[in-house]
Amino acid sequence: MKKIYAFMLTAVVAASAFAGAAFAEDATEAAAADWRAELTTIEDGVLTVATSPDFAPYEFYSIDENGNPNMAGFDIALAQYIADYMGLELSIIAVDFDGVLSELQTGSVDLGVAGLSPDPAREAIMDFSDLYYMGGQSLVTVADKAETITSFDDINSSEFTVGAQTGSIQLDLANQYTPNASIVAMPKVTDIVSELLADKEYAAFIETDVAKCYQKIHPELEIVLDVPYDQAGSAIGVNKGNAALLAGVNEAIAAALADGSMSQFVADANELATGEKYEGLLDEAGEAVTEAATETAGE
Ligand code: ARG
Repeated sequence: MKKIYAFMLTAVVAASAFAGAAFAEDATEAAAADWRAELTTIEDGVLTVATSPDFAPYEFYSIDENGNPNMAGFDIALAQYIADYMGLELSIIAVDFDGVLSELQTGSVDLGVAGLSPDPAREAIMDFSDLYYMGGQSLVTVADKAETITSFDDINSSEFTVGAQTGSIQLDLANQYTPNASIVAMPKVTDIVSELLADKEYAAFIETDVAKCYQKIHPELEIVLDVPYDQAGSAIGVNKGNAALLAGVNEAIAAALADGSMSQFVADANELATGEKYEGLLDEAGEAVTEAATETAGE
């Protein structure tokens, strides 16, 4: 199967290089039609997915009644739906967000499902599925600073520390809208929120629905500005060049949107996210790291 696939890839590359885009489109359509026959994954029979569980309601750990952290969120439910749809077993790898990008870059995973924005700058290292969710971008601060920010200009100088997640489009947005601020990149959204609460960052660029989720635990957080961004919505990052996998993922997404599953996943995730949860990576024993655990268990 690998050989056929390699041939197909060559055909697509050759087509776009020599015969123009029309033929390339035909080849892609052919792959879309019989992706099941062509499907290859990193590990046979398994769909390997990287995610960054610091991002409720997209992905996080929900703590069950026995105190055990279980990966949850609508991205995780969608990943399971896609695996089932393709007849594969789901295997999830939890890493920081920049790790999701590098796992895709090195081709170590089949998919990155992490509220990924289909940023054209990432197209060199992954293919993007169709959009499965529409979100937005926000500038967030804490209540006692909220009134001081009415535009990006108010924080666009070096005395203001502005946070964003490492590798994220929020970091690009920080550089775009507040280029003169002291911009700090942090590996986890959890870290950014802690810094805001500890008065170490003045403001931060965060995905709107994620900010709203953190707000439920920390009501002192305030969304002060809507951040304009062209690539609205989330897509799945797909192992680059795997046309059959991409076609299968798109078909599964279309099915999840059409049969009501996706809206159910979003509703369930938002509901779970208001319960006891943990965001960030687990320690080596698979336990929630205590400091953040108290942050979710308390209050
Ligand atoms: N949408 C943003 C991006 O693609 C942030 C995604 C962060 N995801 C996460 N699970 N922390 O850059």
